[in-house]
Amino acid sequence: MSQTIKAIRGMQDLMPERKRYYRKVEDAARSIFSQYGFQEVGLPILESTPLFKRLVGEATDIVEKEMYTFDDRNGDSMTLRPEGTAGLVRFVNEHGLAFNQTQKLWYAGPMFRYERPQKGRYRQFEQIGVECIGLPGPDVDAELLLMCRALWQALGIEQSVRLELNSIGDVSSRRAFIDALVAYLSEHVDALDEDSRRRLETNPLRILDSKSAQTQALLKEGPKLEAYLDADSANHFEALCAILDAAQMPYEINRQIVRGLDYYNRTVFEWITDDLGAQGTVCGGGRYDALVGQLGGRDASGVGFAMGVDRLALMLEQRSDQDDPPHVYAISVGESARTQVLLLAEQLRHRLGARVIVHLGAGKLKAQMKKADASGAPLALIVAEDELAAGEVSLRDLRNTGDQQRIKATELVEAVAGLIS
Ligand code: HAM
Repeated sequence: MSQTIKAIRGMQDLMPERKRYYRKVEDAARSIFSQYGFQEVGLPILESTPLFKRLVGEATDIVEKEMYTFDDRNGDSMTLRPEGTAGLVRFVNEHGLAFNQTQKLWYAGPMFRYERPQKGRYRQFEQIGVECIGLPGPDVDAELLLMCRALWQALGIEQSVRLELNSIGDVSSRRAFIDALVAYLSEHVDALDEDSRRRLETNPLRILDSKSAQTQALLKEGPKLEAYLDADSANHFEALCAILDAAQMPYEINRQIVRGLDYYNRTVFEWITDDLGAQGTVCGGGRYDALVGQLGGRDASGVGFAMGVDRLALMLEQRSDQDDPPHVYAISVGESARTQVLLLAEQLRHRLGARVIVHLGAGKLKAQMKKADASGAPLALIVAEDELAAGEVSLRDLRNTGDQQRIKATELVEAVAGLIS
């Protein structure tokens, strides 16, 4: 007996009624980003493995245990991208786009991480990422956050997401803090959870993210990152907060945010919702001023963010945000009327840009009317044999009066234009 083959765990099949929310997020992003002068680029899904090891960081969860890595037929190590920033930075370097220029770019597409799947967390997930290269000032950070807010507004979710912000300083200040943190925690190793004990060796900063209450209690008494911030980073952060205040943008300074990727410095932020349970971060990002140079290019600062499209789509779906219903549901009775209704629907689409659903396949008038009601369309177009013979059609108001009027087929476009405008 042949075995059925199923989708891989953590990789979703998206039915039309879910996929449309993804489209909604992407359409809104595309339109908002162009208002701010960002341009879309296309990046490969597959990159060479060392790119992520070097840029995302050897000791991060992503590189340590979440990458889909394999040797291709030539024996070269390839990785399905777990995130987009590393690829974008490679792209910018490879094409010399960071040299005396600024770049405001965005990309969208699937990312892959071998995480434990649950609601809002998948092994293949969609991100929309935005990156700004060559601009070091806090005004850029602020504009990116304003752009996020504009997008939440366009999606109607601005009341359901909150901004959490932090500065993690520059490399030197972070190093001083890490030294102090390691010294402090080394004296209390026994009180640390197992993961944190391991991170003490590999990536101490990530201990701040620990979910263990005991570790968090220990951290409360320990050294604080903000005490080690270099003056430039502190000024940058203060200036950013001042712009956000002027723009009346609510935010919370959360000193615990360090982010799970190694490349950040100074500003880091997350947009969080309570609507999705544990996987509440719908967008995360920050500055990465050393990354372009680290890949061998000229030094150029960078800042950006990526949104989890699956999570945003889930938010929209949970609010059962409906797609726009059709303007007209078109019904026919009889063989020749069926062709006529198809042609009339074409006219309405092409001349008015109307959304028209034609009832395909035969069916009793009553059953077709039921479908028309369920479609949410305000108008039903009805063509039966007797109307056809008279060169006429019927239009029925499905929303208010239920009235039905017969008009000449040649006057249909004009009549519908008046009713749906
Ligand atoms: P990240 O925080 O790893 O950052 O991911 C950004 C967003 O992608 C998350 O906030 C979340 O919404 C979504 N996401 C991450 N993993 C999953 C998953 N397994 N399933 C569903 N959604 C997920 C980055 O990737 C950085 N490249 C962002 C960035 C751009 N920083 C600067 N520029």
